[in-house]
Amino acid sequence: MKINQNYNKLPHNYLFTEIALRTEKYIKTHPTQKVIKLGIGDVTQPLSPVIANAMKQAVEELTKKETFRGYGPELGHVWARQSVADYYKNEMNVVLDIDEITIGDGIGEDLANITDLFNHGGNTVVIQDPVYPLYQSTTLMDSNDIIYVPCNEANGFLPTPPDSHSDIIYLCSPNNPTGAAFNFSQLKAWVDYALENNAIILFDAAYERFTSNNDCPRSIFQIEGARNCAIEFGSLSKTAGFSCIRSGYTIVPNDLNRDGMNLLRMWQQRQTTKYNGANYITQRGLEAALTPQGLKDADRNIAYYHHNAGLITSMLKEKGLFFTGGESSPYVWLKCPNGMKSWDFFQYLLDTVQVIGTPGVGFGPSGEGYFRLSAFNSTEQTIEALERLDTIL
Ligand code: MLT
Repeated sequence: MKINQNYNKLPHNYLFTEIALRTEKYIKTHPTQKVIKLGIGDVTQPLSPVIANAMKQAVEELTKKETFRGYGPELGHVWARQSVADYYKNEMNVVLDIDEITIGDGIGEDLANITDLFNHGGNTVVIQDPVYPLYQSTTLMDSNDIIYVPCNEANGFLPTPPDSHSDIIYLCSPNNPTGAAFNFSQLKAWVDYALENNAIILFDAAYERFTSNNDCPRSIFQIEGARNCAIEFGSLSKTAGFSCIRSGYTIVPNDLNRDGMNLLRMWQQRQTTKYNGANYITQRGLEAALTPQGLKDADRNIAYYHHNAGLITSMLKEKGLFFTGGESSPYVWLKCPNGMKSWDFFQYLLDTVQVIGTPGVGFGPSGEGYFRLSAFNSTEQTIEALERLDTIL
């Protein structure tokens, strides 16, 4: 038996696990202190009634002999995939064949599982730095090599492709944690680079609905050539409040081929073998979330989170601290004051004002000295956190 020693290359705990453990430890030793969490990007606004009713009705169906169901199709119900296709057509003018869409349990899961299509070892993977830490961890687990492309103040947190060859490219736009979103020509440069290198872009579109900037594509398939080099991942966690329900979708164009293999066919084989399909109740929820009423309710929640982000950025402006984000994303990315390191600032905020954020270095080496505040908490909690921060910044 050969164990996967690559796990030794990972940080001791995954970023959000480490934060949760440190928070838990603090609460245990300071039981009277009230901790406010602006750390992990977790939603707080309740489900839209249209989604809740669709899910309740789905449960009702399962209680009756006539409408009871067993296993569903592993790749997702046709009506659920059609609702994703309609969303892309109506919102982004992107035409998808429903066979290109699969319904899954969330973006993190599919972003990790897609790596089954690529050789473990021997691939060079481009990762924005900083970015959602899952890409780095899965690449290390798979024994592939990483090229970090720094996202910093000098390039407006929007890097250009590297000069050297790569095989797999993770892009997240609008970016988690910086909130920077590629415009059409910047994303086209990445598509051109991928095509030249015969590489595949794994495009994380979790925050596409948070941008209202028409200069920024919400889907990579709005870029010419992307169907020949990209796979896109979408999520209902942050828009429809599905972070505990779990639902997302993956789009693999049917003409995406490499080394004589068709990637859609491979993904379908992977999913029908290793996955029994998203649950029926959740898929009814997804279908409802993508109706006009579901989307209207999502936009109301997004406006609420944007309002919180505005409160955070106003305070940072007043304090004269560098920040970015908060406009095309629910996160504000700030520079730690007085040259503090990310984890030191985390501990300082926890010890002095009991506010939790996310240390920037957890998103990649270029995140050192930065810090992320999430706008997903309630407005009341956000205001209370800001009042506390005001006393020490
Ligand atoms: C985060 O960056 O806070 C993530 O969105 C959490 C997650 O979805 O895993």
